[in-house]
Amino acid sequence: MRDLSPLQKARLEYKPKLPSVLAGGIKNLDMEIGEATTAVADAGDIKEIFPNSFGKPIIAFKQAAGKTPEKVINAGVILSGGQAPGGHNVIAGIYDALKEANSENKLYGFLCGASGIIEGKYIEFTDELINAYRNTGGFDIIGSGRTKLETEEQFLKTWNTCENLGITAVVVIGGDDSNTNAALLGEYFMEKKAGIQVIGCPKTIDGDLKNEQIEISFGFDTATKTYSELIGNIQRDANSAKKYWHFIKLMGRSATHVALECALQCQPNITLISEEIAEKGTSLAEIVDYMTNIVVKRAEAGKNFGIALIPEGLIEFIPEMKGVISNLNDTLALIEDDVDYRHACFCSAEEKFAFVASKLEAPNAEAFNSLPVSIKEQLLMDRDPHGNVQVSRIETEKLLIQMIEAKLKVLKEKGGFKGKFSALAHFFGYEGRCAIPSNFDADYCYSLGYNAFALIQFGLSGYISSVRNLTKPASEWVAGGIPLTMMMNMEKRHGAMKPVIQKALVKLDGPVFKKLEENREKWAYSDHYIFVGPIQYYGPSEVCDITTQTIQLERA
Ligand code: FBP
Repeated sequence: MRDLSPLQKARLEYKPKLPSVLAGGIKNLDMEIGEATTAVADAGDIKEIFPNSFGKPIIAFKQAAGKTPEKVINAGVILSGGQAPGGHNVIAGIYDALKEANSENKLYGFLCGASGIIEGKYIEFTDELINAYRNTGGFDIIGSGRTKLETEEQFLKTWNTCENLGITAVVVIGGDDSNTNAALLGEYFMEKKAGIQVIGCPKTIDGDLKNEQIEISFGFDTATKTYSELIGNIQRDANSAKKYWHFIKLMGRSATHVALECALQCQPNITLISEEIAEKGTSLAEIVDYMTNIVVKRAEAGKNFGIALIPEGLIEFIPEMKGVISNLNDTLALIEDDVDYRHACFCSAEEKFAFVASKLEAPNAEAFNSLPVSIKEQLLMDRDPHGNVQVSRIETEKLLIQMIEAKLKVLKEKGGFKGKFSALAHFFGYEGRCAIPSNFDADYCYSLGYNAFALIQFGLSGYISSVRNLTKPASEWVAGGIPLTMMMNMEKRHGAMKPVIQKALVKLDGPVFKKLEENREKWAYSDHYIFVGPIQYYGPSEVCDITTQTIQLERA
């Protein structure tokens, strides 16, 4: 037996709540078939790429006796992409439903993401293994990975692995990119009449895999609560010592959902919202001006301290940087094997930068050249397998501190700033991705997994597991399936147009942003910090089962 803390032991015993429709048992379900669907945009292209999966109806489950198809099912599961609290409970939910349906059924877990199914590396889940991971954080039960499942060769190998194990259904637990690949794999199996179903599950702490049907991806709740606890602690430290500005970059990729939720939880002095910056076309210099003004005004009130939240993906939204990054993405894809580029990389950083700049469009080259060396270096780092800039590696918080320091120095010389500016940079990301899932995520994930098996049992493919009505008690949650193609549009990736699940960015006319907008001036100058405290797992429901402000405001 591994060494466990008292909380770890207690969490293994926690019984996740299921929607009442599923709590009636996996053998007591029937499907309600909704209207045919289309795609969020570019329906013509999506239909052409997914002729077998496009247009399927939305499914909702209802309780009914004697409707469940009976057959032995072997299923496989993949954890894909970045960790998010609750992944183990998705697997536990699939496992429990699968064994409840028929004790002969088997669940296989592929090791380290999609590469496990491609290379045939797997384990078979047992009661003992599942019981050791119930309600725990992390993806370590089988590991995760970022390999993309996209080529014909990979699909063939996947098919081969499934045939060897008698697998007729694969569940892909992932974010927008992984679910896009799940849709492609599902379409491939349908075209080949392989008899293998593919079901997705909405995972990501980023909170950007959501739409009318998917209210939130799992992990967002726990991650934002974890970051909010840390931000609250730092706010109290800043308010006690009164000598530091804390610049906190928050994970979340392109969308600002994580930083926005933490801002509503903690009420810091400054929160930058990438989507607003893009919409207003705010330049880097203007962002620095905005932040500097707050630093100066607070200093005039005797407050040489404060808290600023910076979204991880900010750099991609600053107008002049957006052009640079998009131009860099296309250019790097073209020159990565170029001998002259390789030679320049080998010679020196300056030669590498000069070579890259020579391939960029003139205004982008100028903006690229104006950046500090560290940021240039970070922008040239390898893209992830989906072609995304690895924004978690770009130290925007430090860039902003440097630029504000420079601006304050000039102001000080002119007598416009008499205070002190001592800033500390933080990055909260990995700290939240494997936290012990909150009750919400433990319940939601278990329900998503249990529901994924219900979709399998009814023979569906190319669907994402959907559990809705999440602001209500779990007993009232609605369970069903959404066609993956319904969430898709065409976007440019690696320089070419590809079908992808549309990312949900922060809506500037939505209630979540509006709440920040209404309050931020007040929060900037007179301190209204909230010290959130740690996630509570046991105690009154209003403390333990509370959902995020984002979902409460969006679904009010
Ligand atoms: P996905 O859920 O989309 O895989 O990403 C989650 C995430 O935590 C992002 O917020 C972050 O930018 C990225 O993963 C970091 O990637 P890595 O784990 O490869 O460092």
